[in-house]
Amino acid sequence: MPDHAPIDWSRRLSPAALRLSASDIREILKVTEQPSVISFAGGLPAPELFPVQALQEAAARVLQQDTAVQYSTTEGDPALRRWIGGHAGVTPDHVQIVSGSQQGLELVCRLLVAPGGAVVVENPTYLGWLQVCQFGGVRTVPVATDADGILPDALDEALSAGDISAVYLMPNFQNPTGRTTSLERREAILELAIRHGVPLIEDDPYGELRFRGEPLPSLHDLAIARLGDPDASPVIRLGTFSKILAPGLRVAWVLGPAPFIDRLTLAKQAADLHTSTLAQRLAVELLPIVPEQIAKVTAAYGERALALEDALDAAFGDRLVRTRPDGGMFTWLELDGPVDAAALLPAALEAGVAYVPGSAFHAVEGEGRSALRLSYSCATPAEIHEGIGRLAPVLRGALTAAA
Ligand SMILES: Cc1ncc(COP(=O)(O)O)c(C=O)c1O
Repeated sequence: MPDHAPIDWSRRLSPAALRLSASDIREILKVTEQPSVISFAGGLPAPELFPVQALQEAAARVLQQDTAVQYSTTEGDPALRRWIGGHAGVTPDHVQIVSGSQQGLELVCRLLVAPGGAVVVENPTYLGWLQVCQFGGVRTVPVATDADGILPDALDEALSAGDISAVYLMPNFQNPTGRTTSLERREAILELAIRHGVPLIEDDPYGELRFRGEPLPSLHDLAIARLGDPDASPVIRLGTFSKILAPGLRVAWVLGPAPFIDRLTLAKQAADLHTSTLAQRLAVELLPIVPEQIAKVTAAYGERALALEDALDAAFGDRLVRTRPDGGMFTWLELDGPVDAAALLPAALEAGVAYVPGSAFHAVEGEGRSALRLSYSCATPAEIHEGIGRLAPVLRGALTAAA
C-alpha cells in the first residue's frame, strides 16, 4: 500500500478542465448502439458509402514510400493544399490542413477569442462548437434564426452591443436544423461583418451534400468577390473530408486570410505538429474520386431525406412544424405545446427509436425543449418508415396530453 494519499483531481484540475461536463443525453443514447433500436440520433455518415476499396488500394500505393509515415510540415500536404485552395479560388498560403474541422474550430476559437470573451451563434447551433466554447471559457450569444438563417437585425443588435469576438455560422444544411441560409441573408451577414469589423467563422461540413435546389456561394466566395482580395476578407471557412470520404481520416481544412493562416499554423504546431501524414497522403490519392463519392453520398441521403419527409407527412400531416432540408443529414421537428423532448426520450427508446432532444443544441439552459433533431443518414428508407412508425405514437401521445 502506498503511504501517501492519491491525488485529489478535483483540486488539481484547471478551471478549463472543471468547466467540461459530460452530456446526460449522450449517456442515455448509448443504448442506441443496440441493433434493435432505429437511431435517428447519431450524426454519423453512412458507413456503407465509405470508399473502402479505394482506400485499401491507396494505402498499398502510399505505403511503398517511408515518407508516408514520417513527420511532415505543419501547413499540410502541398498537393492537398493546392487542390483545396484551387477549389476555393485562393493560393495554398490561404489553406491550413487540420485534424478534423473540430480541431480547426478549437484552434480558430483560441486564436480569436480570449477566455471570458464572447461569440455570436445561431440559435440553435452545433453542439461541438458549444463544447469548444465551454472548454475555452468563451460565452456564446445566441441570435434568433428563421427558415432563411440568422436574422440580420438581431445580428446587428448583438454586434452593436460590442464585445463580440466572432460570429459562428453554418450556412449550408445547418446542424441541427438542416436549414440553409439564403443568398440575401448571406449578403446581409457579410455586410454586417464588414461594417462591425468582426470575423465570420463559416463551418461547412455538409455543403457538397446538396440533393435539391441550386448551390449558393459561400460567405468566403462572396467576401472575395466583394472585396477583391482574400487577405481583406473577414471570413474563416472550414471544410472537411469527413462527410464525403470518411471521418476516421481526420483530414479537414481551414481557409482564411494569409496573416490569420500564419498564426493558425503556429497554433497547430503547438497542438499536434501536423495532421497525420498517412491520412493526408490517402486523401491526396482519393482526390480523383471525390466527385463520384459526393454524387453517391448525395443520392443516398436525398433518398433517405425524402423517405423521412414522406413518413412524417403520413404520420402527422401538418400537425408538426419541421424543416425540409435541401442537403446534409438532419431534419428538425418542433412540437407544438409544452412537450419536453428530453423527457420523452426514454419512452421513444422503449419503443425502439432514438433522436437527440433539441435542448442539446441551445446555448441557453431550458431553450429548445420542445424540439428534436432527426438524422436520416444511417437508416435505409424502410428503416426510416419503421422508425417513424415507432416514434409517431410517442410524440402523438405527448402532443395530445399537452393539448
Ligand atoms: C457543424 C459541424 N462542424 C464540425 C464537425 C466536425 O467534423 P470533423 O469530422 O471534420 O471534425 C461536425 C461533425 O459532425 C459538424 O456537424
